[in-house]
Amino acid sequence: MSDYSVLPVPPMSIRFDQAAGTLSPAGPELTRRMSDLEGLFLDQNAWRTAVADGDPIVYSVVSSLVPEADRELPQSITTIQPGSTGGEFWMTKGHQHPNHQGEIYLGISGRGGLLMFDGTDTRWVDMTPGTIGYIPPGWAHRSVNVGGKPYSFLAVYPGGAGHDYGWVLEYGLGQRVWRQDDGVAFGGYFAEASS
Ligand code: PA5
Ligand code: MN
Repeated sequence: MSDYSVLPVPPMSIRFDQAAGTLSPAGPELTRRMSDLEGLFLDQNAWRTAVADGDPIVYSVVSSLVPEADRELPQSITTIQPGSTGGEFWMTKGHQHPNHQGEIYLGISGRGGLLMFDGTDTRWVDMTPGTIGYIPPGWAHRSVNVGGKPYSFLAVYPGGAGHDYGWVLEYGLGQRVWRQDDGVAFGGYFAEASS
């Protein structure tokens, strides 16, 4: 696996291959399996069953060489596999940036959504190829694959923003995103919690 560039990062060009969903030169790649999403799906029994039943890869994140360092501007491509657990679409863990700063996502392929929550209000942005979703400072965010194929998007964010995953475990993300027939249905985040 490649590592990030050392500081200071030199001026460079980064090739973004839309069809392949890659960045090159590439930095580190992260893979999140079902077991990494503990406590995030509402149906914990369905989650346990999925972990026991092969612990599938839910999403992967490939980064460019630009490190998560203050004043740098890292980029990454996330690809979420299609699927649902207990009826809830596969998704990223979701996080808050403790150092509140904005971020943009660009839809590359597949059908997804960007769920945002500021602790009070919830917003959903449909993400298709070419859509830029804007995440304002202070809004926790999660991506969801609502289609039948992999959903990929490019993220560009301030390197000093940090990632707080505990925030989402404590406060949630405002809404759940459920598979319903061929569509999407939204529900309360904690309301229906059972186990
Ligand atoms: O910076 C971002 O918001 C993205 O690159 C995410 O980190 C990525 O989509 C993976 O999601 P998470 O960090 O919630 O696991
Ligand atoms: Mn982010």
